[in-house]
Amino acid sequence: MKDKIFLLGFMGSGKSTLGKKLAIKLNVNFLDLDQFIEEQQEQTIQEIFKTKGEDFFREIERDCLKQVIALPDNFIIALGGGTPCFYDNMELINKSGVSIYIKYNKGILAHRLMHSKKNRPLINNKNQEGLLEFIETTLLKREVFYDKSSIILEKNNLKPEDIIDSL
Ligand code: S3P
Repeated sequence: MKDKIFLLGFMGSGKSTLGKKLAIKLNVNFLDLDQFIEEQQEQTIQEIFKTKGEDFFREIERDCLKQVIALPDNFIIALGGGTPCFYDNMELINKSGVSIYIKYNKGILAHRLMHSKKNRPLINNKNQEGLLEFIETTLLKREVFYDKSSIILEKNNLKPEDIIDSL
């Protein structure tokens, strides 16, 4: 593997799950940016949002992205849903490796997120209607960044093999 591989996409698109499996198949390490942030800050993402706010989180996220990029090894990195959409992060990502957008439509995302919103501060207090509305408006803004990915994969039940085939 020649480059770092960045998996990106909206919350609930399965970046971490897929990234772990892909790393096993390619025999490289896996790194989850949210987890990297939590370890460095000694706080959960939820706590960071609550005590320090989103702007602070985005600064830390940017700083951690730079640190991860500076690591000498090549590995699979699962980004947070918002990572590519702040500062010039997406340019930085594309300069540093292969970016893969795992794309799902808003209906599928809403369905997946309804059951896993507890630890996600941007959506954890939303009902079904509020969640769908949030996905609709946020996805529209974020896809401008996501669409700059080197590879875009849109498929239900995406498997690591599909990613490998696309490389
Ligand atoms: C966020 C997504 C989360 C996490 C934070 C903010 C976002 O990561 O970084 O809660 O802005 O979409 P996941 O995409 O892994 O849930």
